[in-house]
Amino acid sequence: MLLSLIIAESALEIVPSKIVSHPSVVNQARRESKKPQEVLLDRSYHHAAMRNIPEAYRRGRPDIIHISLITAIYTPFFLEDKLQVFVHTREDKVITVGKGARLPKSYPRFVSLMEQLFQQKKIVSEDNILLDLKQENFTGLVKRLRPETVIGLSRIGKKSSFAEMAGSMAKTNGGTLVIGGFPRGHFSNTVSKEFDRILSVHEQPLEAHVVIARSIYELERVFG
Ligand SMILES: C[S@@+](CC[C@H](N)C(=O)[O-])C[C@H]1O[C@@H](n2cnc3c(N)ncnc32)[C@H](O)[C@@H]1O
Repeated sequence: MLLSLIIAESALEIVPSKIVSHPSVVNQARRESKKPQEVLLDRSYHHAAMRNIPEAYRRGRPDIIHISLITAIYTPFFLEDKLQVFVHTREDKVITVGKGARLPKSYPRFVSLMEQLFQQKKIVSEDNILLDLKQENFTGLVKRLRPETVIGLSRIGKKSSFAEMAGSMAKTNGGTLVIGGFPRGHFSNTVSKEFDRILSVHEQPLEAHVVIARSIYELERVFG
């Protein structure tokens, strides 16, 4: 049985055109010999420019996606092809991570790979598709996966636990787990309306990669 993990509404995007000429963007791009219109939005460099864009507090965090993906794809569950991983972005792009894909652990190399992906829409390595990017909204992705259940994890969901979440997944014939790829705030209604259940797995707000690591561990225990 194949389970899916979606990292949803992820804070991963190219610098919006509105702030592409801001000095913080131009300077960072020049330092790295890149085109300002092709660099990833990153709060650690573009903080000043981001004052001019809406919902800045939940944008420009490619590091969250990097750590989350690295956490997910080196687990036995993913390596044994029991889990497929998708990154849905707040601009409704969906990145499909290819079977057995390896991604750089170095953050600058990951950023360059993502910038290349946004340009070319596909990263191929030795004839295998490593990453594939297409325009697709969250509803479209869920329809395509046709899971028997969609469980969203949120601190403000129904009180539960990692083990209970994994147990609910085990009762179905294939499910999808959704974790937010943003630093603050909660899922938008367009995403949460697709959930069959919203569960809180810990009383504290946790980092996305911690939630992913512990979720996969419990899924491995249940699914073997
Ligand atoms: C950094 S959090 C986003 C911030 C949000 N305020 C929150 O606490 O859910 C990233 C993601 O981790 C998951 N998450 C974090 N803490 C959680 C908890 N206690 N229970 C369930 N999911 C959690 C959610 O999927 C969330 O969207």
